Amino acid sequence: MKFATTVELKLSNGKYIPALGLGTIPSGDASDVKDQVITAIKAGYRHIDTAWFYGSEKYIGEALKEVFQQGIIKREDLFITTKVWPSFWHSPEKSLDISLKDLGLDYVDLFLQHWPVALHGDQNGQPAVPKNEDGSLKYDDDPVHGTKFIDTYHKLEDILENTTKTKSIGISNYSIPKLKQLLPKIKKHRPVVNQIELHPQLPQRDLVDYCESRGIVIVAYSPVGGPGAPVLEVPLIKELATKYDVSPNEIAEAYHILNGRVALSRSSNLSRIKTITRLPRITEDELEQLYQVGVKDPKRYTCDPWGYGLGFKYWKGDTLSTEFD
Ligand SMILES: NC(=O)c1ccc[n+]([C@@H]2O[C@H](COP(=O)([O-])OP(=O)(O)OC[C@H]3O[C@@H](n4cnc5c(N)ncnc54)[C@H](OP(=O)(O)O)[C@@H]3O)[C@@H](O)[C@H]2O)c1
Repeated sequence: MKFATTVELKLSNGKYIPALGLGTIPSGDASDVKDQVITAIKAGYRHIDTAWFYGSEKYIGEALKEVFQQGIIKREDLFITTKVWPSFWHSPEKSLDISLKDLGLDYVDLFLQHWPVALHGDQNGQPAVPKNEDGSLKYDDDPVHGTKFIDTYHKLEDILENTTKTKSIGISNYSIPKLKQLLPKIKKHRPVVNQIELHPQLPQRDLVDYCESRGIVIVAYSPVGGPGAPVLEVPLIKELATKYDVSPNEIAEAYHILNGRVALSRSSNLSRIKTITRLPRITEDELEQLYQVGVKDPKRYTCDPWGYGLGFKYWKGDTLSTEFD
């Protein structure tokens, strides 16, 4: 059986992205991420997804130093993504400099705008989750109609154009309304990816099609729905896992990879990291059946308040998005 770790997808700028990435949001102690990264690289993963916001970049840096020193892998054989958080919307290059320093790298392969939102952070992006006295998020711009998020994207374009700190730029958590605002305003460099929550319980074919028809590769986060792995309870996933003699996680990953998308998986369990790398050849018909699971009963698991107003479907608690046409 083929391994998901050997598949690469071509980006619109001609570069390649490994189709299976290791997620690095810490489950508990962020220092545990060091061993997760070393384990993943030894198991064949070539793509590490991180972000300034996760607080794990220092430990990923320790892991990378170790694997480079031991000659296990070379820098150029890895694909590393980081992101600028909304409270740092005004200074993405400063955010990237901090990430590079913590990662111990001269460049990342992909630098993403984490969310198309401007939160009220100071010059160091602090606090990362700024709040008003009533507990609501403190913004620098209206989350529905504001355009400061486009300024951030322009700064990412400048970083790509004028420095060697990243090889590609992209976006994350962009809905169709936000893409419609951004794409006509791009100066030169289109986003190569849009990283979004996607799995068989969350049908977003309109968004996926909108991106893919414009050459934007979809990177799927939470392929098993995040903590507790609720997506793995879907009976069809269990049935396919039995049929193909793989784990349910590998079915959840194959759902994306066989559809030409990247999947980001994460685990604090080192043996799970090693054993969720096979790519079963599930059929077109089965891929469509998996898609239909969410059409019948849609569920989104990440409904953070900084997603309010962006125009995503099934976003629990989001009353702002009703303002969209
Ligand atoms: N751009 C964004 O806004 C954004 C948002 C969310 C995530 N991400 C990225 O995407 C990565 C992956 O997302 P995610 O962390 O939500 O991933 P996920 O792979 O859907 O979920 C990981 C969680 O599922 C659990 N799990 C996995 N397999 C399991 C199994 N067979 N049985 C029981 N539990 C199981 C893991 O627990 P164990 O630790 O016990 O294995 C872990 O808590 C993140 O780490 C991050 O890099 C990006």
